[in-house]
Amino acid sequence: MERPKVLVTRRWPAEVEQALQERFDVALNASDRPLGQAELARAMDEYDVLCPTVSDRIDAAVIGEGTRVRLIANYGVGFDHIDVGAAKAKGIAVTNTPGVLTDATADIALTLLLMAARRAGEGERELRDGRWSGWRPTHMVGSALRDKVLGLVGMGRIAIATARRAKHGFGMRIAYYGRREIDPAVATELEAEFFPSLHTLLRTADFVSLHVPGGAATANLIDAKAIAEMKPGSYLINTARGLIVDHEALADALDRGQLAGAGLDVYPHEPEVPEALLGLENVVLLPHLGSANAETRIAMGMKALANVEAFVNGNPLPDRIA
Ligand code: DGY
Repeated sequence: MERPKVLVTRRWPAEVEQALQERFDVALNASDRPLGQAELARAMDEYDVLCPTVSDRIDAAVIGEGTRVRLIANYGVGFDHIDVGAAKAKGIAVTNTPGVLTDATADIALTLLLMAARRAGEGERELRDGRWSGWRPTHMVGSALRDKVLGLVGMGRIAIATARRAKHGFGMRIAYYGRREIDPAVATELEAEFFPSLHTLLRTADFVSLHVPGGAATANLIDAKAIAEMKPGSYLINTARGLIVDHEALADALDRGQLAGAGLDVYPHEPEVPEALLGLENVVLLPHLGSANAETRIAMGMKALANVEAFVNGNPLPDRIA
C-alpha cells in the first residue's frame, strides 16, 4: 500500500507523531478535541487506518459499512470501546498495545492502594484547606498493608505485576480469582492462593483489586451483592474499567463505613465521575492515569505504529485482536 491515509484521533507523544509523519500520510489532531460520532463515522470512509483511543466510541454505527478503513490500530490495551465483532464482520482488522503499560498500571494500582489505606487524599485535602491542627496519636489513622490479603480479580499481566509489588514491596498476602490458575512458578513466587469463586475471594480479601477486561462479560461484576459480600472494613481498587463496578452501591458502602475506602482510576462514563463519590472522603479518585508516564505513553504509540507499519507492508499484525 502506497502512503496510506492514517487518522490519529487525539494528540499522541511528539516522538510518535513525528515517526508517524515520516512514514504515513497522517492527519493528527493538534487541538486534541475529541471527535464526535459523526466525525468518526466519516473518517471510516476517508482513511485507510483509524488510530483511536479509549476516549473514542467505535461502535457499529461508526463502523457502518466500513467502506475504506481496513485497520483500527487502537492506542491502548483495553478495547471495550470498539465493537470488535462489527469490525470483524466488515473485514476490518483491530490491534491494541499489550505489554507496554503493565508496570505503569500496576504502579497506579499500588498508588491507589497506598493512598486509600493511608488516607493520603483526605490528609492532603485537610492540610491544603488549613484544617490540620497538628500531630496527635489518633489523627487520620489508616490501615497497615503487611500480612493483609490482596485479592486480585483477574490474574493477567497487570494483576501479576501488582501482586509482585504488593508481596515483595509491602509484605501482603496474595489471593486471586480468575478463569484459570496461573503458571505454577509464578504462583509459588507469589505464594498466591487461587479462589475458583469470586464470592469467596471477596469475603476473604482485605483489599480487592480489579484486573478483568471491560465489556459485556464483566459489566457490573462488582454489583451491590458483591460489594455487600466484601469483608467489613476492606478496600476496593479499580484500575480496569468503570462499568465493572456498581458505583451507587460502592458509594453507599463507603458512606456507611462497610468499606473502609476505595481507590478508583476509571469510571463508567468518563470523563463524568459519579456524583455520589465526589463528596466522600474515603475514596481516592484519579483521572484515568494508569498508563500516564512518558516512557509508557511513547511505547504505546510506537506499538500502535508497529501495527500500522506491519499492515501497510502486508505483514502479520503483531497485536491483532480481530
Ligand atoms: C488502556 O490502555 O486500555 C488504558 O485504559 C489507557 O491507558
